[in-house]
Amino acid sequence: MSKQTNKTDADTTNIALAKGRILQSALPVFGAAGMGVAPQDLDSRRLIVGTESPDVRMTIVRSSDVLTYVEHGAADLGIVGKDMLMEYEGNNIYEVLDLGISCCRLVIAGCSPQSLQGSHLRVATKYVKSAARYFAAAGKQAEIIRLYGSMELAPLTGLADIIIDLVDTGNTLKANGLHEIEEIAPISARLVASKAAMKMRSTQLEEVIGRIRNAVEVEEVL
Ligand code: PRP
Repeated sequence: MSKQTNKTDADTTNIALAKGRILQSALPVFGAAGMGVAPQDLDSRRLIVGTESPDVRMTIVRSSDVLTYVEHGAADLGIVGKDMLMEYEGNNIYEVLDLGISCCRLVIAGCSPQSLQGSHLRVATKYVKSAARYFAAAGKQAEIIRLYGSMELAPLTGLADIIIDLVDTGNTLKANGLHEIEEIAPISARLVASKAAMKMRSTQLEEVIGRIRNAVEVEEVL
């Protein structure tokens, strides 16, 4: 089904899709939008895959890279968590649609429910901008320590007092004896668009966005 090329054809819509949980939950939406991806294409280690729709293809990237592809026009559209959008401070992307999938929460957690108290907190997170905004708004001093994964380890090893991380089932916090202290934001996957691409090829992209929007509405009804 898929054809791998290095070129971006003007009449092809490229969608950057965050691999992992978002990809898995987005597949039924794309299927309902007539842009299904063949399972064998997903199982292959191919990073650019075609869809049922000849004019739409997916680029499978790390969630932290989706906005970079869209911002630089290497992808026209992207599917990314709101957590990543909250870290984005550029001006080249539209947030188009809440897909209502991959729902979870950005929270503060620590070894005890009182861990947020104290005057100079050390906060481990990969969400450094959200963290900085939170503590600025709270008028609290905090040293923010950037991590790239397994944030739960930070309070357990003494690296930090608290973490800011995503929680879905709560199982990871529980398994590591951590307490959720406060919710910062609800999170879900969003459809984003390159402003430049929307300007140059609005008709084409609006058509693809419309199909995704309809599919989301259908999924919501089911
Ligand atoms: C996320 C998050 C937590 C975990 C929470 O990590 O960072 O560690 O999921 O999920 P739960 O509440 O259902 O246990 P993920 O597995 O996506 O890996 P990551 O550390 O690479 O982000």
